[in-house]
Amino acid sequence: MSGEGQSARHVAIIMDGNGRWAKRKHLPRAMGHRKGVEAVRELVRSLQDTSLECLTLYAFSSENWKRPEDEVDDLMNLMRKFIKSDLPEFIANDVKLHIIGDWQGLAPDIVAMLENALEQTAKGSRTLAVALNYGSQAEIVHAAQLAAADGEITEDSLAAHLYTAALPPLDLLIRTSGEVRLSNFLLWQAAYAEMIFTDVLWPDFTPRHLFDALDQFAGRERRFGGR
Ligand code: FPP
Repeated sequence: MSGEGQSARHVAIIMDGNGRWAKRKHLPRAMGHRKGVEAVRELVRSLQDTSLECLTLYAFSSENWKRPEDEVDDLMNLMRKFIKSDLPEFIANDVKLHIIGDWQGLAPDIVAMLENALEQTAKGSRTLAVALNYGSQAEIVHAAQLAAADGEITEDSLAAHLYTAALPPLDLLIRTSGEVRLSNFLLWQAAYAEMIFTDVLWPDFTPRHLFDALDQFAGRERRFGGR
C-alpha cells in the first residue's frame, strides 16, 4: 500500500532484464521471458492493493521485431498463453485491458484474442494497458496526422489522438535492470512523470517493489515546471 502524500493513479513500467536474469542462472533466454510473465501476473493481482487506476506495461516494442525469429515467436506464444490463462482472472478481478501500439499488426489469431479480451473486460474499473508493437515516435506522428486532419494541431488535440487518450496522466515511469533510458516509450506522456530506475531484473520484480516505488512517489515534490 502506498503511504502518506500524493497517490499515483498511473504507473508505466519498462520491463527489462529477462535475458540477463536467465543468463545469470545459466538458463535459456526463453525461461527469462517465462518468469517475466509470472512477474506480470503477480503485479496485476496486486493492483487491488494500490491506489492505481492504470498500470501500463511495455511488452513488445516496434523494434523488438529485430530480435531473432525464435525469440519473437517465443514472446508471441507467451502472449497467446497469457491472454488465454489470465483472461478469466482479469474479468473476476475487475481488470480492464487496454492495448497501446499498432497491435492490429500482430498475427491475426492474437488480434482476435485481444479483441475478445478487450470486449470481455470493457467494464473493469482498473486498467492494465499493454504496449504491443508500440513505438512512441510513431504514435506521436500518427496522432499529429489525425489532429491535423481534424483541424489545428495543439497540445490538447494531439494528446487526444494518442493511444493513451483515455488513460489518466502518467505519474510514474519505472525501468528495471539498471538501464537508464526511455527506449521510445511514452515520450509525450512522460513529460512530467516521475522516474524510478531500479537494478532489479524484471523476473525478480515483485508487488513489494511496486509498493516501494509508490511510496517513493508519494514523497516526491512535483512541480510541473513551477516552483
Ligand atoms: C526485456 O528483457 C523484456 C522484453 C523484451 C519483453 C517483456 C516481455 C515480458 C515480460 C513477457 C511478455 C509479456 C506479457 C504481458 C505476456 P530483455 O530480453 O531485453 O532482457 P535483457 O536486456 O536482459 O536481454
